[in-house]
Amino acid sequence: MATRSTVPMAACAMFLAVLSAPRAQADELRLVTPPLSIYREQIRPPATTLPVPSGYTRDHVVHGDRVFHGEAANGQCSVCHGIDGKGTPNGNDLTAGMFVWSDGSVRELKRTILHNMAVAPGMDGDLKPEDVDAVAAYVWAISHQDP
Ligand code: HEC
Repeated sequence: MATRSTVPMAACAMFLAVLSAPRAQADELRLVTPPLSIYREQIRPPATTLPVPSGYTRDHVVHGDRVFHGEAANGQCSVCHGIDGKGTPNGNDLTAGMFVWSDGSVRELKRTILHNMAVAPGMDGDLKPEDVDAVAAYVWAISHQDP
């Protein structure tokens, strides 16, 4: 009789352990980084005070800001990357200064942006080369903001 009841009890204990494990893990993750949410207050960085990459002008950054936010060249960047560039479930954070596909230089960012457009035609708007230049400078600028 005793052996019969220990099996279901052990199974029950294992089940409870499995149930509580993911919750403990989620709590740990929350301490490190807040969950990505589009419901945070998304503040558009001020294009007039953002840093300007060398070889570019304030006009590039200001125009890039307009492209990024759909006010020029039908740019759609902020739809996926957020008004503040900090990301949504559909596009990653571009402000952290860490890039998966490049070293974060304007030149390399430009290459990534052009490549994105090649794999997803129409998703990035109607960008002319000068718009790509400007928006690459803008992405550099938002990834070099003062904390
Ligand atoms: C339809 C959604 C969408 C739009 C619109 C979009 N992006 Fe993205 N973007 C993504 C996603 C998703 C990734 C990540 C792709 C990956 O890692 O494979 C990405 C990656 C990037 C990267 C590379 C990030 C890295 O870590 O290296 C840059 C830079 C970038 N986007 C800039 C832009 C710019 C500038 C625009 C507007 C011209 C734009 N994106 C429009 C979804 C979008």
